[in-house]
Amino acid sequence: MDQDMTEAIIIDGVLLSKHLREDVSKRAAALTAMGRTPGLAVVLVGDNPASAVYVRNKVKACEQHGLSSTLDRLPATVTEAELLSRIRQMNEDPAVHGILVQLPLPGHIDSHKVIETIASEKDVDGFHVANAGALMTGRPQFRPCTPYGVMKMLKAYDIPVAGKHAVVIGRSNIVGKPMALLLLEAGATVTICHSKTADLSFHTKSADIVVAAVGKRNVVTGDMLKRGATVIDVGMNKNDEEKLCGDIDFPSVNRVAGHVTPVPGGVGPMTITMLLVNTLESAERAAQM
Ligand code: GUN
Repeated sequence: MDQDMTEAIIIDGVLLSKHLREDVSKRAAALTAMGRTPGLAVVLVGDNPASAVYVRNKVKACEQHGLSSTLDRLPATVTEAELLSRIRQMNEDPAVHGILVQLPLPGHIDSHKVIETIASEKDVDGFHVANAGALMTGRPQFRPCTPYGVMKMLKAYDIPVAGKHAVVIGRSNIVGKPMALLLLEAGATVTICHSKTADLSFHTKSADIVVAAVGKRNVVTGDMLKRGATVIDVGMNKNDEEKLCGDIDFPSVNRVAGHVTPVPGGVGPMTITMLLVNTLESAERAAQM
């Protein structure tokens, strides 16, 4: 076959999620049988439409897999003190095993302060400094959901990581930084690129694994890649037709990569799956199973 006619293997986040969620359902049922149903408390501040969709999907996934969930919708005008006080109540509630405050928060609220107020043993996002530090020092309690999901995808498709060159594009606390740490923990040589990187394709051209987590369309194109590379697309953008699209130029990447994740149907469902896993494991720890 003409080399340019080859297509990458699609990493199916929906299918992989289905398998992982079956296990979550079983373990959640076992906890419920002991009177300890795993519980997730979600907080949404304001009315950012994208955040509202994400939050709804998280709550729905809990319902579908035997976890209980609550959703606090607070107005954009809520004070920081009110939000912190609500979080402290959740910290004390034994029915709550996971607390998730959807980001971004309105400008008058200090998101660092909010995250640090969540009890670290209920911080299922893994954003608290105690959890970020635990991840950095190799003893993670909660791995941030999106990078954790990406590691599960690499494993499920037998994509080698140890000794490979991984390029992470993006340096956010939610994805880029923890992604780099998890790849490092798995033995990759990791390069972190970002908006100030002078020559992105210099780095991506030697990468075996590229993770694009920028929030901008067409950041990675096929000509920037080594043939056979694995490309993970964490992006959630809208194209000109208002349809969901990722950070990569899928058609050109698909002709060069060995494996690629689609948007939708790739990383997105895995993020929610790993949130269920983190909440379940938190409940199991609380029950000392
Ligand atoms: N906003 C975008 N992604 C996330 C996430 O994983 N967790 C929270 N809390 N907010 C987000």
